[in-house]
Amino acid sequence: MSAPKRLGVAFIGSGFMTRFHIQSWLAVRDADILGVWSPNPKHAAATATYARSLGVGPARAYKSITELVADPAIDALWICGPNHKRVENLEEIVAALESGRGTLKGIACEKPLARNVAEARRCLALIKRAGVPHGYLEDQLFVPALAKGRSLAWARGAAISGRPYLARAAEEHSGPHMPWFWQGAEQGGGVLNDMMCHSVEVVRHLLTDPAKPRRSLRPVKVTAQIHSLKWTRPEYVRRLKESMGAAVDYAKRPSEDFARATIEFVDDAGRPLIGEVTTSWGFVGAGLRLSCELLGPEYSFAYNSLNTGGQLFLSRRVTGAAGEDLVEKQNAEQGLMPVVGNEAAEYGYEAENRHFVRSFLDGTAPALTFDDGLAVVELLMSAYMSAEQGRTLSFPPKGLEKFIPAVARGTWKP
Ligand SMILES: NC(=O)c1ccc[n+]([C@@H]2O[C@H](COP(=O)([O-])OP(=O)(O)OC[C@H]3O[C@@H](n4cnc5c(N)ncnc54)[C@H](O)[C@@H]3O)[C@@H](O)[C@H]2O)c1
Repeated sequence: MSAPKRLGVAFIGSGFMTRFHIQSWLAVRDADILGVWSPNPKHAAATATYARSLGVGPARAYKSITELVADPAIDALWICGPNHKRVENLEEIVAALESGRGTLKGIACEKPLARNVAEARRCLALIKRAGVPHGYLEDQLFVPALAKGRSLAWARGAAISGRPYLARAAEEHSGPHMPWFWQGAEQGGGVLNDMMCHSVEVVRHLLTDPAKPRRSLRPVKVTAQIHSLKWTRPEYVRRLKESMGAAVDYAKRPSEDFARATIEFVDDAGRPLIGEVTTSWGFVGAGLRLSCELLGPEYSFAYNSLNTGGQLFLSRRVTGAAGEDLVEKQNAEQGLMPVVGNEAAEYGYEAENRHFVRSFLDGTAPALTFDDGLAVVELLMSAYMSAEQGRTLSFPPKGLEKFIPAVARGTWKP
């Protein structure tokens, strides 16, 4: 028997997300982490050392994206740089491929695919031109309880009593970890762009018949609101500047910290379906909370990432240092805290990376591609348009291709 094929993987970016993917690799077969590139060589080297320390591949830091593409051992790239470098990163990858420096079996890109529709279309055009299989990394579809709950709701509930009609999804925490997320121009918006991309894809996924393609669901109307509920209060403007630097000035250039949207869909039989999504950077609870629901005629499914099996209690005498050892975006070190046993599994990264590795090795299209990334960006930008105009918009709204949210232009006044 010949040895199974293995995929050599490298990461672009060496920050929070790359480290989470590396952690998940303990549960990924048939692939090794071989490289990391990031503009700061020390950070790239430290992240490569982290991968080696976990035994998930003989990773080393590379000098450029072009050097990654040129290495015949590297078969696939995971793009995990900041949103404002997405197009630039892809342009360098595609230029290296087109100059014949190397070949790739796959390119996977973190959410959101881009900051607006024009950039997302550019990403899709570049990847199609390169002719390389592509994947859109949306981990929440791979959350084990969500994947199983969806499958059972459809197989048992929908098969006997009819398709589900309402899906809800939310992602909430107390605010992102790096300054660029807070800066509308760099990130592309505020919490809507940063986190509603997850919730939009979750409701699309839950409402899609597993036997049919995503296009069996058609968005027809979008209604949304955005607000700044917390981070423009003077005390929090000051705190944000202290923790994120003077460039993050929410008295002058705020981004929204709350967003909600209702997306009306129709299915291929013309039945109306609703997706409700809400996100916030103003949730002070134990830490990151992902939740969703799916409602059908005689069944319902619900998931909440903080309803864990384990709980840890620490009395008021335990005054330890602030950390994220209990849960991502942790807000406390005392009292009754949920214990998420394996965050890389619980948030979907393990199953996500197994799926993308398998697809690229087999040469098949992953369940999520750049086309899905573009579809999500189109809905997000429609939500910003609806919020700015204060009304329900038919989808796709006029002018979507060139639309840039006021938050990203630095002109939004909450
Ligand atoms: N799936 C999820 O739940 C999830 C969670 C967090 C972040 N993300 C996404 O992952 C991406 C990275 O976010 P993060 O949290 O790791 O941010 P981060 O700020 O922690 O890390 C970003 C990394 O990109 C590097 N970088 C800087 N300039 C670059 C360039 N020109 N090209 C490539 N890399 C560059 C930085 O040095 C850093 O290593 C973002 O697109 C973000 O939206 C996804």
